[in-house]
Amino acid sequence: MTLRAAAETTGRRIGVAVAYEPLVREPAYARLIQAEFNAVTPENALKWAPVQPRPELVQDQHWQVIFDAASQGRQSVRGHTLLWDQQLPAWAVALSDAELMVAQQQHLERLVSATAGRVRTWDVVNEALEDDGTVSKTALWRVDGDRHLRDAFVKTKALDPAAVLAYNDYGIEARNPKSDGLLRLLTAWRAAGVPVEAVGLQSHLKVGEGPRPAELAANMRRFAALGLEVHLTEIDVQVRHLAGSAWGAEAAQARLLYGWTAACVAEPACRELSFWGLSDRHTWVDGTLGDDRPLLFNDDLQPKLGYYAVRAALLGQPDPTCAIERLPAPKVGAHAGWRSSGGPLQVGPKGGAAAAMVVAGRTEAWQGPVHSVLSSLTAGLPLRAGVRVRLNAGPPAPVALTLRIVDGLGERYVSVASGRATADGWLRLEGPLRVALQGELRTADLYVEGPAAGRELWIDAPSLRVDCEASP
Ligand code: XIL
Repeated sequence: MTLRAAAETTGRRIGVAVAYEPLVREPAYARLIQAEFNAVTPENALKWAPVQPRPELVQDQHWQVIFDAASQGRQSVRGHTLLWDQQLPAWAVALSDAELMVAQQQHLERLVSATAGRVRTWDVVNEALEDDGTVSKTALWRVDGDRHLRDAFVKTKALDPAAVLAYNDYGIEARNPKSDGLLRLLTAWRAAGVPVEAVGLQSHLKVGEGPRPAELAANMRRFAALGLEVHLTEIDVQVRHLAGSAWGAEAAQARLLYGWTAACVAEPACRELSFWGLSDRHTWVDGTLGDDRPLLFNDDLQPKLGYYAVRAALLGQPDPTCAIERLPAPKVGAHAGWRSSGGPLQVGPKGGAAAAMVVAGRTEAWQGPVHSVLSSLTAGLPLRAGVRVRLNAGPPAPVALTLRIVDGLGERYVSVASGRATADGWLRLEGPLRVALQGELRTADLYVEGPAAGRELWIDAPSLRVDCEASP
């Protein structure tokens, strides 16, 4: 099932920011956007600088191509954006404050008229607040305070009454001084009859550093209580800062996307989720913040774990990331990466298990079976590992599952789980991999320690999964 079909089961829009160049040059990009999304946002094509590079030159072709592709694909369009103090044409920046006000009003009127009837939602005002929740002291603010912000909504409504009008910003996903300030502003505007009908929470996220889904949920409620629609408008999830494996970074990203999407689905006022770009090849993060992989599709336009997580959340299903088994079980004749740091590793039937492992001729207690977890371990991704353990004979004895790490901090040993194994039955040893990684992760070996040499230590049913009980 596609994302758009999954979103439609909940009556929501799922959107993507679309750029003109790949849309006309890469057929696969255009196809995937039509197949997977039921809404689009021109990423740049409606901004003032590209639309009017010179006072006498208006360029509407790019957004028109995007609008036409959208109507062909039965996709609604989010207009982005009418009033913003960035991506202004250089000639406009050079104007006096009063002249800029006039030019801005003309730009808004012309563009809203030109697009009227074709835009589902307009981001009328973008990023007009400071982190402390006050209105930014821009050139236009110097002319009339926040009056032009309100006027932009009134004017847009008059020229395109069917469009739903939104205020859009970053850093307002959780409760904080900025979202508190916006709530006060929107409360006052609505009381005064300003036609602001939706709030866009951009949602440029970073694993481990931003707000959690529960904080998003609590904050969305406040705006919903004002009677506003809530839209998650520019979702992407940065992972480049995470030490460890690429798989783990993708899994951590998927966990956050699952939580973000589920929060939207659980909030009746949350009507739209939109991603800020189609694939890791088409992301503003690379050029602006650093090389990253923040989106749902990889460089080859293949769906990532985040894609499946978002789809599952839309369908009310559990996160499939949690069911992925990362530690292979050996078979007779195929050790699947398991090895030993003692004698030879043997795999065969033991104690009722079809393919248990045993290290023959152990001379040290710690020489049980070993498997690298280098390709799974990532900072900020909670994992749980486990094995079953049994002794061949003799009295109960202590056993342990241990992780040996070599990273930028050097070598260290982390205890995962421990217990007392017996010869009468299997003992499940399972626990979290709790380790703060620093710098380059060079070695991550999971291994089993048992009683001193001389007795056989049988190992079976290895597993390593994302710990989905730990919150994303
Ligand atoms: C970004 C675009 O993605 C880039 O291509 C462009 O160079 C700069 O703007 N918040 C917004 C978006 O509201 O308009 C910005 O888009 C990203 C941050």
